[in-house]
Amino acid sequence: MDCQLKLRNLAKTFRSNGTERKVLDNITLTVKKGQFVSIVGPSGSGKSTLFHIIGGLIRPTSGQVFMDGKDVTGTKGLISYMPQQPALFPWRTIVDNAILAREVAGLPRRESIEMAREWLGKVGLQGYEQAYPHVLSGGMQQRVAFLRALLSPQEYMCLDEPFGSLDALTRYDMQKWLTSIWETQKRSVLFVTHSIEEALFLSDTIYVFSNKPTTVLKEITVPFPRPREEEVMGIPVFHELKREIYQLLKREQGRLAESSGTKEEISHAAPY
Ligand SMILES: Nc1ncnc2c1ncn2[C@@H]1O[C@H](COP(=O)(O)OP(=O)(O)OP(=O)(O)O)[C@@H](O)[C@H]1O
Ligand SMILES: [Mg+2]
Repeated sequence: MDCQLKLRNLAKTFRSNGTERKVLDNITLTVKKGQFVSIVGPSGSGKSTLFHIIGGLIRPTSGQVFMDGKDVTGTKGLISYMPQQPALFPWRTIVDNAILAREVAGLPRRESIEMAREWLGKVGLQGYEQAYPHVLSGGMQQRVAFLRALLSPQEYMCLDEPFGSLDALTRYDMQKWLTSIWETQKRSVLFVTHSIEEALFLSDTIYVFSNKPTTVLKEITVPFPRPREEEVMGIPVFHELKREIYQLLKREQGRLAESSGTKEEISHAAPY
């Protein structure tokens, strides 16, 4: 069987108030089963939109989403998804938020709660099981949303900037922790990040997106062996790839500034 998530020639144009805005021009990408694939691209290039299309929340204007060889365009419930905003339900406790996707999938509650309790401890949220989301900081809520995606039973996980609002040290711990889980679980992950280092540290493949109307500027195969240790960040190839991606994004930023007179930030990128 064709074991992969494949996006083929996806395009999306939004129409509102009589104006059309083409966000995704032509996106083709593949996440093979067990692969960790990242997307880096300018703000507003349509990364979250792409996830909404994969999750069946919105339909593409053209193109298809294939899962394991089957056209699943517009079908909901097939992926585990962590949105950019944590989107926890305020009336559900932390543990109940964490097991939500398992509950929707009809999995046994007691087993789900046991798993959630174990994982909550691992992400530093022990003692918050019965608390409600409003008592948690933004970063803590993000960790709960991340756990909800992790515990969700689907094979393909789409994580939209999961570590965006964490402080640098917690973010770094979560990255190390995510690589170690991923190396044991071998889930298939599509990951959005604004951090080039994070993408290089975590991924097998990186897709660099252009500004909108968005296309894939480059597909990069990350050559570092696994299990990955933090030392990888010090080796020359890491720096060369980081520089290459940075230059690609910088060029896009320049193009954007030329066309609109504005400048958008490339966060966490080293100034070359
Ligand atoms: N429902 C919608 N209707 C109209 N325009 C939309 C809609 N959703 C998104 N857009 C537009 O599509 C573009 C891409 O938005 P999107 O949130 O996908 O970008 P992004 O790459 O995830 O950005 P960021 O890195 O800042 O999260 C933006 O210009 C946004 O205004
Ligand atoms: Mg986004």
